[in-house]
Amino acid sequence: METSMRLDKFLSQMGKGSRSQIKEMAKKGRIFVNGQAEKKTERKICPERDQVTLDGCPVAYAAFEYYMLNKPQGVVSATEDSRYQTVVELIEGAVRKDLFPVGRLDVDTEGLLLITNDGELAHRLLSPKRHVDKTYYAHILGTLPAGSKEQFETGIVLEDGLKTMPAVLTVLPEEQLGENLTAVTLTIQEGKFHQVKRMFQALGCQVVYLKRLSMGSLVLDEKLKTGEYRKLTEEELAGLKRGESIE
Ligand code: URA
Repeated sequence: METSMRLDKFLSQMGKGSRSQIKEMAKKGRIFVNGQAEKKTERKICPERDQVTLDGCPVAYAAFEYYMLNKPQGVVSATEDSRYQTVVELIEGAVRKDLFPVGRLDVDTEGLLLITNDGELAHRLLSPKRHVDKTYYAHILGTLPAGSKEQFETGIVLEDGLKTMPAVLTVLPEEQLGENLTAVTLTIQEGKFHQVKRMFQALGCQVVYLKRLSMGSLVLDEKLKTGEYRKLTEEELAGLKRGESIE
């Protein structure tokens, strides 16, 4: 089915300005639809079929955009913030101006974050009913108490009395970390506030470094340095939409 939308809405969604700015551009004869100058910005167009140009340049239509970001520390998982740079501001190549992060990573957490404007997909990935797996890599100060793996498997009672769903803990052999740190991966099925840090805290342990490696079938691209991003591939997107998890 073809989309029908107002010309001013189309141009503003493609990042060309506010609706009032677009009205001004149209008045000045800068906007053409199918080769004809168009002054009525409220008119409907079909973005897939109609050719829109601004100052002679075609305006490409992107209904949805999907980016994989390797979130750096010191950047907040938000669309706007008065103190910190936001993850959305890192996506400099974006066409759409309505991008948002799918879920939140703490300001000091690094790693995989999906940035999109696809609300339906975001809702499915974040829905507590779907139990989408999220895997984190962490450094824990000191060593873990005996029986930690089993405790994570049965569920951990957090400081507020809530019990978490079963999680999978793997302790990694990492010689270079030194004696005072333990490297682990943890796969959880929920996304409670500060969940990973609070789960370890409940066992008397402190997380000193946290990085998300995967979310459902989406795995952080190792080639992305912190702060770097790229578009999702078609296969990655199709996997997320099918609700696949990693084998
Ligand atoms: N759990 C945390 O504690 N922090 C995050 O950023 C993500 C999961």
